[in-house]
Amino acid sequence: MRPGVGKGVVRPACSEADIAAREWLAGQMAGAGLEPRYDPVGNLFGLARAERSLLVGSHTDSQPEGGWLDGALGTIAGLEIARAARAAGGPPVSVVSFQDEEGRFGVTTGSSVWAGTLPLADADARADGDGVTFAGARARMAQLAGDFIDPGRFSGFLEMHIEQGPWLYEAGEALGVVTDIVGIRDMEITFEGDQNHAGTTPMHRRRDAFQALADFNARINAGLGEIATPRTVWTIGQVVLHPGAHSIVPGRAVFSMQWRDDDAGRLDRMEAVIRDAAGAIAAERGLVVRFGDMLGLEPVPMDTGLQAELAAAAQEQAPGRWRHLPSGALHDAANAARLMPAAMLFVPSIDGISHAFAEDTDEADLVTGLRALAGAVSRLAP
Ligand code: GLV
Ligand code: MN
Ligand code: MN
Repeated sequence: MRPGVGKGVVRPACSEADIAAREWLAGQMAGAGLEPRYDPVGNLFGLARAERSLLVGSHTDSQPEGGWLDGALGTIAGLEIARAARAAGGPPVSVVSFQDEEGRFGVTTGSSVWAGTLPLADADARADGDGVTFAGARARMAQLAGDFIDPGRFSGFLEMHIEQGPWLYEAGEALGVVTDIVGIRDMEITFEGDQNHAGTTPMHRRRDAFQALADFNARINAGLGEIATPRTVWTIGQVVLHPGAHSIVPGRAVFSMQWRDDDAGRLDRMEAVIRDAAGAIAAERGLVVRFGDMLGLEPVPMDTGLQAELAAAAQEQAPGRWRHLPSGALHDAANAARLMPAAMLFVPSIDGISHAFAEDTDEADLVTGLRALAGAVSRLAP
């Protein structure tokens, strides 16, 4: 596995680096007076020694090329707040690092299974791009002997995170209180054409899978553009052409198709545009199109009571330099919200960069964020 560049991180779920990082984190939890507990999917909890506690955390897995703060910030912030609260005889705070938030095996796998929106058997059957299943990957984690943690022991969930977008940074603001988390749909699409010789096959006889994909991209850009709002986004982030050689007309294109919006109805209308475009292009060009399983999360509002506490803490730490804002990124808080009141606090991302080694946040903003989170926790913890 490649090392990160600069502050970059390469720590996909269930990789050696992820397993080692969880073991390190479990040790830190124990050192902070918490009880480290893995659940069957690798979510790692640091439980406060109290019947009821506030849960604070995020995730510590990364994208194939990720930044140092995406997820780790909220996890380490939770750990420090729990440690400090315990040392000061303050309210009980538990910590969590959810597994596979970044979706090596889908979309927010660990917190989805915990929240009951993804059956464990379905998660286990999912495979990454190399065909490794989640069942096989989690079997590498010898620590996964325990049961799922009862969500009833937590009074709520707070997640601190980098914004991963440009809005706070461009406005010179320090903090964001999240109103809602965007919904997402994600599936694999395959165009199957004819593999043939790139020198001898006349253009009119080709069934070129890449040309179909290029045409598809132009058509969805036009079609989705007609129904998009400023929050609507869509991405083809991964493409595999088969067999992938300069002198071969590609016979197969397998690609990811992901789209996000804050409105579930619009997500459905986008799906119709995507399926129609792919179907029409396949018919026109004499190819076969196949659609993979649809993964997704619905748009989720954050708890208004918790938002109010975060807003009060933000105003205290950064008067006039914070705002309410929606999240275009996915977060484990979207799943936790199905189990308990949940809310999120954002700090700015320099130049709005994330899911890249260049991701970073000014240290002063990290400190302001931690202080605001601690302020909210002290008001909220049972
Ligand atoms: C999670 O990081 C996402 O893709 O939004
Ligand atoms: Mn994240
Ligand atoms: Mn991420």
